[in-house]
Amino acid sequence: MHPPHLAQLCKDLALEFRRDPRGGRVASLLSAYASAHDDWRAWAMFESDRYTRNLVQKEEQFELLLLCWGAAHRSPIHNHEGQRCWMAVLEGQISETLFEAPRDDHALGEPLVQGTSRNFRPSQVAFITDEVALHEISAAGGAPAVSLHLYSRPFSTCQVYDRETGRIAVRQLGYHSVRGERAVSSANPRS
Ligand code: SIN
Repeated sequence: MHPPHLAQLCKDLALEFRRDPRGGRVASLLSAYASAHDDWRAWAMFESDRYTRNLVQKEEQFELLLLCWGAAHRSPIHNHEGQRCWMAVLEGQISETLFEAPRDDHALGEPLVQGTSRNFRPSQVAFITDEVALHEISAAGGAPAVSLHLYSRPFSTCQVYDRETGRIAVRQLGYHSVRGERAVSSANPRS
């Protein structure tokens, strides 16, 4: 069973996407949850060698995940398969670095063009789409971190990019746990 406030957040998100398929109030719903509640702790699971992706809720309109980061963990540089992505920090600090998506004329072997970096603190919400940029996420400040990620709509693979060459690979996205239960197979999603 979902922790109660997390369950309420899932209901509110479902209502919001029915009201507005673009999710105009999603950032404020995530921020309100992050600032008032910590029942996500019941479903937070860490691994020593990688960040974990823990599924909270998956519906036609959205997928909500709890990501747990060790102090040195980072995601690959990746896209979001044409979907919208919100990220709310629950604990610790998360750094986001943007990169320009390689254009058709990007020569293989050329490094990706790096954009701005920003640190997000508890209750702050980041938003990204493929039109904005690719990004790389990591724990910041030398401490573990936990973040809530919402994708609309869900996607099960994404593209990952080599920083030095711009080379693209497709990654299957897995779950470390599903609604609080350890998943049978938890292939690393994006290491
Ligand atoms: C993100 O893009 O929001 C984090 C990475 C992930 O979903 O694994």
